[in-house]
Amino acid sequence: MKALVYNGPRDVSVEEVPDARIEAPTDAVVRITTTNICGSDLHMYEGRTDVEQGKVLGHENMGVVEAVGDAVGNVRVGDRVSLPFNVACGTCGNCEKGLTAFCLRANPGQAGAAYGYASMGPYRGGQAEYLRVPWADFNCLTLPEGTERELDYTMLSDIFPTGWHGVALSKMQPGETIAIWGAGPVGLLAAHSAQIMGASRVFVVDQQPDRLTLAEQIGAIPVDRSAGEAVEQLADLTGGGPDRGVDAVGYQAHGPDGKEQPEIVLNDLVAAVKPTGGIGVVGVYLPQDPGAENELAKEGKLAFDYGTFFFKGQSMGTGQCNTKAYNARLRDLITEGRANPGFLVSHELPLDRAPQGYERFDNREDGWTKVVLHPAA
Ligand SMILES: NC(=O)c1ccc[n+]([C@@H]2O[C@H](COP(=O)([O-])OP(=O)(O)OC[C@H]3O[C@@H](n4cnc5c(N)ncnc54)[C@H](O)[C@@H]3O)[C@@H](O)[C@H]2O)c1
Ligand SMILES: [Zn+2]
Ligand SMILES: [Zn+2]
Repeated sequence: MKALVYNGPRDVSVEEVPDARIEAPTDAVVRITTTNICGSDLHMYEGRTDVEQGKVLGHENMGVVEAVGDAVGNVRVGDRVSLPFNVACGTCGNCEKGLTAFCLRANPGQAGAAYGYASMGPYRGGQAEYLRVPWADFNCLTLPEGTERELDYTMLSDIFPTGWHGVALSKMQPGETIAIWGAGPVGLLAAHSAQIMGASRVFVVDQQPDRLTLAEQIGAIPVDRSAGEAVEQLADLTGGGPDRGVDAVGYQAHGPDGKEQPEIVLNDLVAAVKPTGGIGVVGVYLPQDPGAENELAKEGKLAFDYGTFFFKGQSMGTGQCNTKAYNARLRDLITEGRANPGFLVSHELPLDRAPQGYERFDNREDGWTKVVLHPAA
């Protein structure tokens, strides 16, 4: 089968690899109809992780079940399914609590596994014609049959639940105000989620004009940080700061000078969010980052403004999204027309053109908001 393979920094190609197949009785094999390129893939693409050469990438996958193992009971050949990016066993202590991003069995020695990702276990990704899905009864979310709303449902594997998780971690209540840092796909879907959850006003902070325009189009209030300090703009707009904040940027955040400054978003959130407010961090931070600009950050340590955080009595929630905790309800919001996360798709490409998709999305080229691939096309 054909698959997108990581060769080295800024070097990916579509190659012939061994077919995905049933390896355990609890497996399914899914023919991939849509698989997305994620901002998280760019950390690997840019050589900022320890991902191994030859890894098949792709953790945002959906498709049609092609085969099932003997022990699979609920998922049937022909089912249209979304696969949470987390690979989870369903029965360990953390999975039982709904904390599927921290499964204790899928990636021994570590909590949490994913398809096609650095340090997240041996699983191949789905930027390929087929994907092996372990513990298929647990990891397949069944979707309405057919091909309708494909671009909406494809966001269920990661970024719609992740955006939702960011808002949930901030503990936002209906009627509150919330500011989201980052107008990338995750930030835009955090904004969409906050609106559905009943925020009175949603602000989105970035400096990319095309992405800020999208934020405005969905009814959020864009805050252009190239036009002045976001913290001050938000203080003026809200009379003292928003109730809640979300980090949808992560460790490759940029300062006003365009240089990487890994702590800038966290410190902006502490400065902006009002006293006793909540902060949700879904932007990724790593325990080790040898490619970082300063010595502290190379060890995953940041100059975090903890004194102000403490003095303001804020709270913070962090981590990978437990996709399974949300995906069935978010699917139903899509099916009933209450959510349309597919609005952010800017490009649909065949698998063969994935390398160009990576390059242009990585350059944050104007209009390249979210790239989806259709291997089965
Ligand atoms: N926690 C999870 O489960 C999970 C899941 C998916 C993605 N992520 C992470 O979420 C983050 C965002 O993903 P994405 O796909 O939207 O990525 P992206 O790179 O497309 O978007 C990031 C955006 O942040 C903006 N930005 C950079 N520095 C900024 C700053 N100082 N202030 C405000 N905006 C700034 C950029 O201009 C860009 O538009 C990444 O770190 C990704 O790895 C986490
Ligand atoms: Zn992703
Ligand atoms: Zn588990």
